[in-house]
Amino acid sequence: MFLRDIWYFGTPGEAVGRGAMIRKILLGEPVLIGRTETGEAFALRDICPHRGVPLSAGRLYDAKSSGCGDNAVECPYHGWKFRTDGHCAEIPSLVPGQDVEVSRIRVRRYPVREIQGNIWIYMADEKRADLPPATEPPVMPGFGEVAPNIRETMTFGCHVDHAVIGLMDPAHGPFVHRSWYWRSQKSIHEKAKDFAPSELGFAMVEHAPSSNSFAYKILGGAPRTEISFRLPGIRIERITAGRHRVVGLTCVTPVDEKTTEITQSFYWTMPLLSVLKPVLRPFMRAFLKQDGDMVDLQQEGLRFDPRLMLINDSDVQAKWYHRLKTEWAEAGEQGRPFQNPVKPVTLRWRS
Ligand code: FES
Ligand SMILES: [Fe+2]
Repeated sequence: MFLRDIWYFGTPGEAVGRGAMIRKILLGEPVLIGRTETGEAFALRDICPHRGVPLSAGRLYDAKSSGCGDNAVECPYHGWKFRTDGHCAEIPSLVPGQDVEVSRIRVRRYPVREIQGNIWIYMADEKRADLPPATEPPVMPGFGEVAPNIRETMTFGCHVDHAVIGLMDPAHGPFVHRSWYWRSQKSIHEKAKDFAPSELGFAMVEHAPSSNSFAYKILGGAPRTEISFRLPGIRIERITAGRHRVVGLTCVTPVDEKTTEITQSFYWTMPLLSVLKPVLRPFMRAFLKQDGDMVDLQQEGLRFDPRLMLINDSDVQAKWYHRLKTEWAEAGEQGRPFQNPVKPVTLRWRS
């Protein structure tokens, strides 16, 4: 089961132009993500309630003349029209006197926020689909409304939990990302990092990053970094070096039980990094692919449904992830506030 009543990264804002619609599968549900001519993003269940055709295959048109609001979605099969809030506005086949209550026909609408170039979709539990969202999606502090400077998306053939745990796993670096520009197996040394609870998750509190990481060296200055994780699968790494800032946002969104989309975005204030973009992109892809190849390999074992282990301290973050998920689901079911189960602690491991 996937976590509900929470914001998921839906798609990069730049993936949906004005007057366009795209189809995505999120948490096993088909979702139409569209953008009106006036620039506002919206999301609807991508199934026409009449006979099931994907609405995203129809057209998004200017509906002012027909009184459907600025824009409406027209199903390609029988032309039923839906406003961007999901209410049906017109059934073309009806003749006067046929009493179908058109406005009571509705396709599910998902709350949407577009922040700093990211389109977030609120995936409520079916039972609570009409309630307003209780939380807000994350904001990268200090970057105003700008979109990321660079981003890459990759699809992993695994359940979201394995992708998330891979993301926060501190012990795989020297083995999976064994590259001259990152770190080598020889560079393994003992680490002790302080952790604390943070919004919907936990954070490795601000510290000077590992000196064995070449990638940090190109930033210059004396870098400081803080890495936070929040449900449902969002990792934010904030690096400051001198007067410059770099923020890495990694979002893990379940497509279905066996497919997960990873989107990695970077925001920065360093002009040098913008110049280096063509060089950085292949590194980003290579890095993500190293993780992707490992989860593919992991599937070879998981097919046989083995018992797995989480050990101290290197897998404590994975344990927290499971605990956070359980608490989020239980708090939602019981209608009570979420209580973060993470306590401040220092974790030690070699990597
Ligand atoms: S299936 Fe959409 S209008 Fe008939
Ligand atoms: Fe990794």
